[in-house]
Amino acid sequence: MGGSAEATRWVLASRVETGLPDEKTFRKEAVRLPSLADGQILIRTTYVSLEPHTAGEIGPIAEGATGKALTEIMPPTALGATIAGYVLGEVIESRDRETRVGEAVMGYWGWQTLAVGRVDRSDDGHAEPADDDENIVYLANPDVRPVSYNLHILGELGITGYIGMTHIGKPQEGDVVFVSSAAGIVGGIAGQTAGNLGARVVGSVGSAAKAAYIVSELGFDAAVIHTAADIERRLDEACPDGIDVYFDGVGGPLSDLVIQRLRPHARVVLSGAIADWSASGPSVGPRLYWPLIASRATVQGYYVGDHHDQYEAAYQQVSDWVSDGRLTPREVIIDGFDSLPLAFGDFLGGKHHGKVIVRVGPEPDGWR
Ligand SMILES: NC(=O)c1ccc[n+]([C@@H]2O[C@H](COP(=O)([O-])OP(=O)(O)OC[C@H]3O[C@@H](n4cnc5c(N)ncnc54)[C@H](OP(=O)(O)O)[C@@H]3O)[C@@H](O)[C@H]2O)c1
Repeated sequence: MGGSAEATRWVLASRVETGLPDEKTFRKEAVRLPSLADGQILIRTTYVSLEPHTAGEIGPIAEGATGKALTEIMPPTALGATIAGYVLGEVIESRDRETRVGEAVMGYWGWQTLAVGRVDRSDDGHAEPADDDENIVYLANPDVRPVSYNLHILGELGITGYIGMTHIGKPQEGDVVFVSSAAGIVGGIAGQTAGNLGARVVGSVGSAAKAAYIVSELGFDAAVIHTAADIERRLDEACPDGIDVYFDGVGGPLSDLVIQRLRPHARVVLSGAIADWSASGPSVGPRLYWPLIASRATVQGYYVGDHHDQYEAAYQQVSDWVSDGRLTPREVIIDGFDSLPLAFGDFLGGKHHGKVIVRVGPEPDGWR
């Protein structure tokens, strides 16, 4: 290609004050990238992964709402900055002797059609927000098909559900495990992992269609719809003897109800709090000291990045289970770079089951 390339990107035009993003939230613009320096590569984005934490980064992430520790590990997106997020693309030009044109790389350069990168071959790096000058990227596993699975089930998101469930939830055979946002990639894998280990698994979802999906396709034993008016009765019907493990990606009012149903020595894996992303102040609920004291529960905040030493074994197990059908990924692909804002709103609003990715560039032959 030679010379410098022009990319198109979505930037944050207006911070979301409450609820879902709308047409004022994002702005599309062109950006001229620098010419490649020695050791750099030019990447054409193929897929963007849609993830709930983006809502926090573009939302009212006041320290009062989410806490100082969170803004430190997940910095808010500045006005005018590229919307961050995990992406996978194809190398289309290389000034790195070890990287070939056509290779698949992943990183965090976000909602942008092209990016300048440098490949990190160590295995202890971590993703950084998008940078016009240079993004640190990683090689995708070339043996994974479809290649897009590198972004989710056979990548860090897949092992998030697996490691959180096995190392913190620690379900025993016959335990009752409750998983929130069970039709998403993390919840789905967490629930299927617990089922594979012999637990009875109940999931919460936002619709009857998702309830049918997690029971019939993912093999959950039961589903409850968290928006139902009689949610308490449904929880009691689905878990009449209480809950041994709660794997939570949602927080909010649902978690208040689940925690009141914990059995003695239950484990609670706090993996995410989607319900809080759009809150403009601290999340206030019942104070649940007595249910926690009475159940002698262990409640642990969980961040997958703390578990690097378990990644290799986790990748192996997840990959074996995908191969033998004991984990069943469902990928929803939405086409078009221009679709990103709407697709993101639909994703947060619960429209899709499974992992949602947006295909923003041509998919090379043989990637599927
Ligand atoms: N701890 C870690 O290291 C780590 C790493 C990665 C991800 N995570 C967390 O894992 C969780 C799941 O991530 P994911 O990528 O698999 O996304 P996901 O579960 O697919 O998230 C989107 C879904 O969230 C549900 N949702 C949205 N607003 C909600 C609300 N107010 N109350 C209840 N549910 C709501 C909707 O499902 P319904 O239609 O079913 O309501 C929607 O489809 C997130 O909290 C994420 O931040 C944690």
